[in-house]
Amino acid sequence: MTYCINFDKNEFISALFAWFQANKRDLPWRKTYSPYHVWISEMMLQQTQMERGVQYFNRWMQEFNSPADVADAPLEKILQLWEGLGYYSRAKNIYQSAQIIRDRYNGEIPCDEEKIKALAGIGDYTLCAIMGIAFEKDYATVDANVERVFARLFNCTESNLKKTLRPLVQELLPCGKARIYNQALMELGAIVCKKNPQCGLCPLTGFCESKKLGLEKERPLPKEKKQNIPVLASFCIIRNSQNQELIRQRKSQKLWNGMWEYIGIDSIVIDNTDENIDTANLAYKHEPVLQEHTARQSLVIELGRLFSLSRKEREEIAQKISPHCLRISSSYTNHKLTACFFTLNLDRKLEEKMQIPEHALWTDKAEEFAMPSHHRKAHQKLNKEKLPQKAEQGRLL
Ligand code: ADE
Repeated sequence: MTYCINFDKNEFISALFAWFQANKRDLPWRKTYSPYHVWISEMMLQQTQMERGVQYFNRWMQEFNSPADVADAPLEKILQLWEGLGYYSRAKNIYQSAQIIRDRYNGEIPCDEEKIKALAGIGDYTLCAIMGIAFEKDYATVDANVERVFARLFNCTESNLKKTLRPLVQELLPCGKARIYNQALMELGAIVCKKNPQCGLCPLTGFCESKKLGLEKERPLPKEKKQNIPVLASFCIIRNSQNQELIRQRKSQKLWNGMWEYIGIDSIVIDNTDENIDTANLAYKHEPVLQEHTARQSLVIELGRLFSLSRKEREEIAQKISPHCLRISSSYTNHKLTACFFTLNLDRKLEEKMQIPEHALWTDKAEEFAMPSHHRKAHQKLNKEKLPQKAEQGRLL
């Protein structure tokens, strides 16, 4: 189906721009619109709420004044500043791009579509945001907010909204005004044309087809839900006689690569994709007590393997690991993760027997290492409760 613009473009733009001037939020990158600021803000705001994005943006800019500052820093520092935002490939892409910008473009982001596209982690959206918002070239940005605004404006019922709506968003862009236009549409989607639309505050109601039909709450049509794959993970916070914790850096892994974590296994898959699995069995696998049991057993096996423990030593360790765990739930991509954190306090005898695994170290400053958020939460929670927990070893919950 094709959708056409049957209203006056100039009236539409005047209403939108006047609203933006009066209602725009005071966001830090809007002070300068420097390409560096726009680039970092757009990378951060993907999959991130605005308030959180602003906090991270300000912290980042205090540390790094320019792409060259980013390129010159160790990756560890980048990951540390990114910690908690998730989707760490974005941070690594920024790092890689910063090196290119420093080495090939004299430290300045080039105003050139092909060169920007060739940087790491730049998709269509980010390209258009940099070209349109920073350089004021005629590139329209279509993010989820703009999609929602346009799906309502044109009462669009297609499933591929972006493909259908992009030509309309581009057509309405007034030449040379991409900065305000893109920002205004995103802003309107974020604060007025929200999932639950606030039509009373909207400057575009007179242009809105679904409002005319009383269908604004029905648009856009709900997307098909992604399946959430449940994953169980099991970790051990191992402490030595000096109360240091053992952490290990992830190497050559797709997720959280380069970050630090407690020892354990992060993918005990609770398989719900196997058609032969019966639902009673699946329900059983989701029982917290049984998950804890599975997690604990898997952990003992993993520690035995990792530290090359004899059967007797493994039994000894199994006795010493806390019987209960701290459970932390989180989500990443289409996975729902339940991470079980057990504790193990080593006495000097056991400590001497156990060789530290590769890429691992003892520390009493785990807070200074970049960690995936479930590990960070476990660290914070268990360290806050360190004293009572120590006295009552093995009784976490
Ligand atoms: N969401 C993502 N980028 C944005 C921007 N520049 N302004 C408002 N909302 C946004």
